Amino acid sequence: MAIGLAGSRFGRAQEDPVRDHSRVPSISELKTTFEFEAVAWAKLPRAAYDYMAYGADGEVTLRRNRDVFDEVDLIPRGIQMAEAPKTELKLFGAAMAYPVLVSPTAGHSQFFAEGELATHRGATAAGATMIVSNNSTYPFDKVAAAAKGPVWVQLYPKPQLDANRAYLESAQAAGAQAVVVTIDQQASSYERALHDRNLSYSNPAMRRPPARPGSTNPYRISASRLWYEWKLFDEIRPFVKVPMLAKGILTAEDAKLALDHGVDGIYVSNHGGRSLDYDPSTLEVLPEIVDAVNGRAPVLFDSGIRRGSDVLKALALGASAVCCGRAPLWGLSAYGTAGVQRVLEILQTEFVDAMRSAGCPSLEAINRKIVAAQYS
Ligand code: LAC
Repeated sequence: MAIGLAGSRFGRAQEDPVRDHSRVPSISELKTTFEFEAVAWAKLPRAAYDYMAYGADGEVTLRRNRDVFDEVDLIPRGIQMAEAPKTELKLFGAAMAYPVLVSPTAGHSQFFAEGELATHRGATAAGATMIVSNNSTYPFDKVAAAAKGPVWVQLYPKPQLDANRAYLESAQAAGAQAVVVTIDQQASSYERALHDRNLSYSNPAMRRPPARPGSTNPYRISASRLWYEWKLFDEIRPFVKVPMLAKGILTAEDAKLALDHGVDGIYVSNHGGRSLDYDPSTLEVLPEIVDAVNGRAPVLFDSGIRRGSDVLKALALGASAVCCGRAPLWGLSAYGTAGVQRVLEILQTEFVDAMRSAGCPSLEAINRKIVAAQYS
């Protein structure tokens, strides 16, 4: 239990809605995204909760992703007309009501039977774009058809170019409006999670073949993730007719390389602290990446967003929009479609409140002047 909750905030009494109750609270009783985690924990099988909560190794990066938000102050800028802040934006030509998307996360049926179908319905109800994981429980076309809202697709590249082609072409035919290529889990292994968290190979998301004697890859690291180079983006570009993003960028140099290889968007992420422990937190590296990209492409951001003020800080440090992984999953686990919708609406409402308090009437008014980082 202690390990299971290591990266989580709901151990704090004031964020634990179950503390005074012998029942699960109704959705309207929950006021912050954190409170949904407690309900998710109460409702989920242990292995499913642990899979979602898990961070790599000692979970230093998982915690750091959150802790740095506490080290960035918001500086309200004078008296400005920010009564009804404008939150609309265009991302790759598509209109969005808020700069908040749903990150790709795997295997939603372990959290709620209708899985990604429910997530897409909830995101649509909140007016948010969902990025569908390559490891979704339901196939991409079924997820896309479950609701009217926009969907993007995530790719874990496969060594066989034709396999990438088939997946990308069918996803685009089913309506994927952008392709997000994850590049940061080439060598991650869930061995530690399986050990610490007692996770089971019967959980499909964790299944991995046992190492065979004489295997060239004895570490149970997925062989399909160990081979790629930057030229991957050049190779798959002919199959991608929609904007393509590189997800997992943590340095200015890699952002520039990704742009050199034709990506249309940079996605700053450390996989929610699930990839390489001691990765930097994404908020700390965001400014140098934004400076390197220098307006040539949108910069998306994830790993740690839990509050509307987090969204404001990430945008102030240069993100075009943010994505959220665990928070919508807490909503999904706790209340299905309605929970996904509510979590996203809480983030949107808190974001508007934060903009108003900081004196930002529009997204264009959000810049580095409203933040002061306490870390060096
Ligand atoms: C994970 C992989 C599936 O983080 O993206 O669990």
